[in-house]
Amino acid sequence: MTDDATTQHWRTRLLHPAATASKDFHALAPAVHRGSTVVFDRLADARDDWRGDAYSYGLYGTPTTRELALRIADLEGALASFVVPGGQAAIALVYLAHCRAGDHALVPESAYRPNRELSEKLLAGLGITVDAYDPLVGSGVAALIQPNTRLVWCESPGSITMEVQDVPAIVEAAHAAGVPVALDNTYAAGVLFDGFAHGVDISMQALTKYVGGHSDLLLGTVSVGTAEAYDRVGATHRLLGLSVSPDDCALALRGLETLAVRLDRLEATALEVARWLKAQPEVELVLHPALPDCPGHEVWRRDFTGSASVFSIVFRSDWSAARVTRFVEALRLFRLGFSWGGTHSLVMAYPPLPRAQRGYEGRLVRLNVGLEEPADLIADIHRALTEMS
Ligand SMILES: Cc1ncc(COP(=O)(O)O)c(C=O)c1O
Repeated sequence: MTDDATTQHWRTRLLHPAATASKDFHALAPAVHRGSTVVFDRLADARDDWRGDAYSYGLYGTPTTRELALRIADLEGALASFVVPGGQAAIALVYLAHCRAGDHALVPESAYRPNRELSEKLLAGLGITVDAYDPLVGSGVAALIQPNTRLVWCESPGSITMEVQDVPAIVEAAHAAGVPVALDNTYAAGVLFDGFAHGVDISMQALTKYVGGHSDLLLGTVSVGTAEAYDRVGATHRLLGLSVSPDDCALALRGLETLAVRLDRLEATALEVARWLKAQPEVELVLHPALPDCPGHEVWRRDFTGSASVFSIVFRSDWSAARVTRFVEALRLFRLGFSWGGTHSLVMAYPPLPRAQRGYEGRLVRLNVGLEEPADLIADIHRALTEMS
């Protein structure tokens, strides 16, 4: 028997080739590393550990997934970031890293609906109680914190109804009670609002939206600002086995390269369309954080460095749900669909929302502007409005 690869059977050479290509390749695009098993030269080096820089198993990181995690951590000013299969997975990871049976958490009632459903349908069964609070409560959150509260969520602006939260006031109240604060920072793409500078312990985002940016991938990140959060989130991430595709991570890395120009353009287009809508007699409110109709607008002016592509409008009180439906179906450039943050404009109408206040009685429509020409988007809305009159 010989160990000379050139004389080995072709079946063996399929797995142990005689020649391999040089790895000395310096492309601008990051490499896509696929790998579950990591091999070691010495038994003493073999380890099963999600911490540290050494690679030990694909789930705990490959050069591609770690590159993305490092770039998001750098952008957000985090201690570290964990990449997960989507924004909803990131939300679940944060809950499960912090809450056990008998614990309590607080979530704004304007949070992304599946965040609230997770607590109602899954966490409740595990003995974890989650109470929804008015997103505009500010420091008043102190009165809602119980001895067993382990987590306070913020999401700013809130989903669909767009309330901008006073995150620093909520952080101050929660920290006074020793409770960590997690922020869904998806709207800000982790950059238009500096969560860690405003005191949060954890910042998650759905990379599905602005970082991916093209409606063709699902990914999320959980970024941590403290060593305690790092330990909790890292250990839970491993136990839940939240692995991600390196191909998706490579797409997200590519998305990062154009994030700034896309955000600039989306902000300008959204503002132009929102301001035009504000001048239309059919529209009662324009819930865009940079416009005064939006609850928490002053907080947005104080804390954010920009606005993004998604906002809502509320039609006049004489608009029926049927008329709202006809309007959204009359649009052509704005396609009917959930999600946001991509290159295409989208629209969605909502039934009365489950909020103690600001349910908007089925007269609310959410718009996400894309990279189309603003004048064409305005013409599309104008035509649809005209068809309604
Ligand atoms: C604010 C917010 N957070 C989280 C998510 C969940 O992200 P994903 O679709 O990647 O699970 C969404 C998705 O719409 C969202 O709008």
